[in-house]
Amino acid sequence: MGSFQNPLIETPARRLPGRIAIIGAGTIGPDIGYYLKSALPDLQLVLVDIAQASLDRAVARFGEYARKAVARGRMSEAEAARVTAGVQATTDYAALAGADWVLEAATEDLALKRRIFAEVEARIAADALITSNTSSLPAAQIFAGLRHPGRATVTHFFAPAWRNPIVEVIAAAATDPAVVEYLRWFFCTTGKVPLVTRDVECFMLDRIFDNWCNDAALCLERATAAEIDSVAAEFVSAGPFQVLNMANGNPIIVETNTLQAEVEGEHYRPAPIFRSVASWATQPIGRTVTVPEATAAVVRDRLRGVLWSQTVDILDREIGTAADLGLGCRLALGFREGPLDLMAAAGEAEVRRVLQRFAVERPGMPQPRRALADYQRFERGLLVDEVDGVRIITLRRPEAMNALHDGLNDEILAVIRRHEADPAVRGFVLAGYGPRAFCAGADIGRFPTLLGDAAAAAQYGRDCSRVLVHLDAMSKPVVAAINGVALGGGLELAMRCHALVATRGARLQFPEITLGILPGIGGLAVPYRRWPQAAALFHDMLRAARRMDAGQALAAGILSGLADDYAALIRLAVSQVHALAGQSRPALDAPVAVPAFGAAAATGFSREVTALIEDAVQRAAAAPTLAAALEIGYQAFGRTACTAAAREGIAAFAERRKPDFARTG
Ligand code: COA
Repeated sequence: MGSFQNPLIETPARRLPGRIAIIGAGTIGPDIGYYLKSALPDLQLVLVDIAQASLDRAVARFGEYARKAVARGRMSEAEAARVTAGVQATTDYAALAGADWVLEAATEDLALKRRIFAEVEARIAADALITSNTSSLPAAQIFAGLRHPGRATVTHFFAPAWRNPIVEVIAAAATDPAVVEYLRWFFCTTGKVPLVTRDVECFMLDRIFDNWCNDAALCLERATAAEIDSVAAEFVSAGPFQVLNMANGNPIIVETNTLQAEVEGEHYRPAPIFRSVASWATQPIGRTVTVPEATAAVVRDRLRGVLWSQTVDILDREIGTAADLGLGCRLALGFREGPLDLMAAAGEAEVRRVLQRFAVERPGMPQPRRALADYQRFERGLLVDEVDGVRIITLRRPEAMNALHDGLNDEILAVIRRHEADPAVRGFVLAGYGPRAFCAGADIGRFPTLLGDAAAAAQYGRDCSRVLVHLDAMSKPVVAAINGVALGGGLELAMRCHALVATRGARLQFPEITLGILPGIGGLAVPYRRWPQAAALFHDMLRAARRMDAGQALAAGILSGLADDYAALIRLAVSQVHALAGQSRPALDAPVAVPAFGAAAATGFSREVTALIEDAVQRAAAAPTLAAALEIGYQAFGRTACTAAAREGIAAFAERRKPDFARTG
C-alpha cells in the first residue's frame, strides 16, 4: 500500500478491529474508549485498570456521555444503548485475550509502561496492534523490549479525547509502515484527524505546548501569571497558566522538558518554579487583566519567540508537516491561528526581530535554518496526491466540514494551475477529507462581516468564483468525488466539475435558504443550464432546501456513477478523468427555459429571500451568456446579505438555534 496524504484513498488489508482493550481508566483512557464505541458501536471494548474505583467511574462516565448525546439529539436511544453495551471493565489482564488492538493510557512512567507491554504481549496475538497514548516518551524507548515491535507505536490523543479530532500517529523506526498507514486510515475513517509525526521526545504538538508553558514560566520575572495569560489570550483560547491549573500540568512540564533537556540541551530545562507551585494565581479561562503595554510587549515577543522557534525546528527536522502543525495547534491546543499563519500576518521583518530577540534571551533555542519565505510554501487546506496520472485534491478543513472560503478556493486554483500544463497530468479529482463531507458549503464563519454590505458580499462571491470560472474553461477533466454531504458552495463547486460521482450515502443540498441567503456562486444558474431536465428538482432544492440523495441525483443525470466506499469512489473518479480526457465540454452560454415557480408551499423560510431566488433564477436562465448569468447570482447574493433574514439565519447557525423568519419577513 502506498502512502497517500489523504488516508482514505486506499483501504488497507487489515480489517476494522472487533475487540479493543484500553489499559488505564484515568480520564483519557475511557474518553478514547467512548470515541471508539461511538464510532464502532458493536465493538467489544475492554477497560483494564488496577483500581476498581477508576473502572466504576469510567463506566459511569460512558453512561453520562451517552445520556447527554441523546439529550442533544446527537444520538438515538437505540444508538446510545449499543454504545454503552459491550464494555467490560476489569482488573484482570486475562481479558486482553482476543484483542485486535491494545491501547495503553497509563501513567507516564517508562518502566511501568514496559512492564505493561510485556504483560500485554504475553496475552495477545503476534499481529495484534499495540499503541501507547504517551505524550512525550519516544516509541523507540517504550517498545524496546517487545518481541514484535513492528505492530507497536504511539497514538497520542488530546483532551477531551472523545471529541477532540487530533491524534498524533508516530512513525517510529521499528514500526511497520503498514501499521502507520492502517492507523491513519482507521482514525480518519472514524472521524479523527491523524497527524503523522516523527519519533522524537514530545513528538510535534507537545513540543509547542510544553515549551510555550515553560517559557511562560521563565517570563514570570517580568510579569504575573495573570498578565502572561492575558497576553497569551491574543493567540489562544486559554493561557498557559490557566491550562496548567486545569490539567494539573506542572509535573508534566517538569518531566517533558527534562526529557528534552537531556536529549537536546540545557536550554530546554524546565523553569525551577514548576517544582514549587501547585496552582497559579490567574484569571478563570476567558477573563483577562489589563497589562501595561511595555510589559505586554515583552511577553508577546517572548511567547511568539518560543512559538516560532519551535515551529521552524519542527519543520527543519521534519518532525511534522506545516499543514499538520497548523491544524494541530488550532484543533488540539486551542490556538486561534496556526503559528505559520501568525508569522505570515506579522511579516518577515517582524518575525526576524522577534526571533533575534528570542535568540538573545534564550540562547541555544532553535532558530530558522532557511529563508523565512520557505516555511510558508505549503497548502493550508488541501492535500494533493497522485493516482494513475490524476492529481487528487482533497479539501481538508475538519473543523468546518471542509467548508470553503476565498483563500481555500484560491489554493485549489493554484494547485490546478501548477499541474495542468504538465503533460503527465491527465486531470484532477476534487474530494473531501474524512467520512462525512465532501464540503459543507461556504464557511459561514466568514459571513457576518459581509452582512449589510451588498457590494462587498457580491465581490466575495466573485472572489470565491475565480476557481469555478477557471474550471469552466479547462480542457483537462476535473471530477468531483462526493463522499458524504455536498452542500451550498460545496455543491456549486462540484457542479462546475466536468463530471460528478458519489458514494451511495451522499447527499446534495442547497441549505442557503435556511440561513436566509442564497447560493451566489453559480447555484442559481449552472444547474439549470447543465441539467435542464431536472429544473423542477432544482426549484425545490433552492426554495425549500430539499435534499437530493445520491440515487435521485444519478437518476436525474447529475451524477455519472456511484461507489460503495471512499476508496472505490476515488477509483471511479480517476476512471472518469481517464474517460473524459480529450473530450470537449458543452458550453453553458445559451439561455435556457425554466418552468415557472408556482406558489411556494408554506416552508417557514424568508419570503423576501424566496422572492429574490425566484427572480434571479428566471433572469439568470434568460441571460445571454454564462458570465452574465453568474453576475446575476453574485448580485442577488449581495442583496440577500442586506436582508433581516440573513442576519437572523446566520446568527441562528452560530447560536445553534432554529431561525425565526416569521419575524424577519
Ligand atoms: N461553515 C462553517 N462551519 C461549518 C459549516 C460551514 N458551512 N458546516 C459545518 N460547520 C462546522 C460546524 O459549525 C461545527 O463546528 P463546531 O464543532 O465548532 O461547532 C462542525 O462543522 C460540525 O458541524 P455540526 O453542525 O456540529 O455537525 P452536524 O452533524 O450536527 O450537522 C450539517 C452537519 C452539515 C448539517 C451542519 O453543520 C450544517 O447545517 N452546516 C451548514 C451547511 C450550510 O448551510 N452550508 C451552506 C453555507 S452557504
